[in-house]
Amino acid sequence: MKNLLNQNFEGKRVLVRVDFNIPLDEDFNITDDSRIKAALPTLNKLIQDKAKIILMSHLGRPTGFESKFSLSHIVNYLQSILEVNVSFSENCIGEKVMSSIKDLKNGEVLLLENLRFYKEEMSGDLNFSRQLANLADVYVNDAFGSAHRAHASTSIIAQFFPKEKYFGLLLKNEIDNLEKSLCDPETPFTAIIGGAKITSKIDVITSLLDKVDNLIVGGGMAYTFAKAMGGNIGDSLVEIDKLDLAKSIIVEAKNKGVNLLLPTDSVNSNNFSNYSNIQYSEIINIPDGYIGLDIGEESICLFSEVIERSKTIIWNGPMGVFEMSNFENGTKKIGEAICKATKNGAFSLIGGGDSVAAIRKFNLQNQISYISTGGGAMLEYLEGKELPGVKAILE
Ligand code: 3PG
Ligand code: MG
Repeated sequence: MKNLLNQNFEGKRVLVRVDFNIPLDEDFNITDDSRIKAALPTLNKLIQDKAKIILMSHLGRPTGFESKFSLSHIVNYLQSILEVNVSFSENCIGEKVMSSIKDLKNGEVLLLENLRFYKEEMSGDLNFSRQLANLADVYVNDAFGSAHRAHASTSIIAQFFPKEKYFGLLLKNEIDNLEKSLCDPETPFTAIIGGAKITSKIDVITSLLDKVDNLIVGGGMAYTFAKAMGGNIGDSLVEIDKLDLAKSIIVEAKNKGVNLLLPTDSVNSNNFSNYSNIQYSEIINIPDGYIGLDIGEESICLFSEVIERSKTIIWNGPMGVFEMSNFENGTKKIGEAICKATKNGAFSLIGGGDSVAAIRKFNLQNQISYISTGGGAMLEYLEGKELPGVKAILE
């Protein structure tokens, strides 16, 4: 494996797959630029080398061309942050983009339009991948957030650069940090998994049961566990078809000697809104007509105590509906407990769009060891799956 940093790419056409799948508001202003900032080490290295940089990314999940998903919305911002000339190509393949690349001067950047405007991107079409590959001399994958996708630009394309394919610096850093927490972690090792549904987290939970000392489960899925234990959860979110699964996770944790911590109390609301009647109860005694929207004070104490004693911590998924001020407390307090542990020497890693948004909302982002740009990619890595984007570079 050749290291990007040991090469000089002066005058070379370098095609960089980034993950600029970022949130935009209705006026197309970027509301969170962290994925762009995370790509800067790679981009600045290539700019300093005076390479001809061709950037490609997807944005959202368009079906064909949809102007609201155009990457043209981010050109001005890119130009200001990179401090070099950034031009834009409405096409990803073909004569026009070839001629734009011919016009590129050393150290300049060309941003291609959203790859997903071509259906061939997500289907991993070989011919489309070859046409993308024809644009450049070198391929760099720095799109960790998309490394779990076997798409044309993230994986299939790499075979056309047998000697000139590289991990970007972000992708490498993400893998190094995940490895650090998974291979030989300092113990106690605690994973905190939240979010709405067991379905989307079951694989990671199962895989973590072989690795962690403590597994904390919060967020919407905790109510399915409470129901599985025979509780009354009022009108809370529940996956009725996952009750047996929840029970089996409880048994499996016990058999594997993992300390599984579930919330014991809940903050409830008579509707899914910040402006509502709020009451508190045990999680197994939520009144009918009420929805559990956050973990309660007792759960916060229970969880925080375990987190603060931990030496390795990974977190994916909020504890409650932190977007609403009345139901943000659980997520905030768990974030603060992680920061406290980190200050005392623990290694902490947070990933997933919601958890990262929460940590930024509470301004705790500088007190965490590592914040991942990946959601699904991080989960699949933790599940022990080989990421297609990583594999394609190593092959
Ligand atoms: C993400 O934000 O999850 C990545 O950019 C991948 O996008 P996708 O989930 O639409 O494939
Ligand atoms: Mg995703």
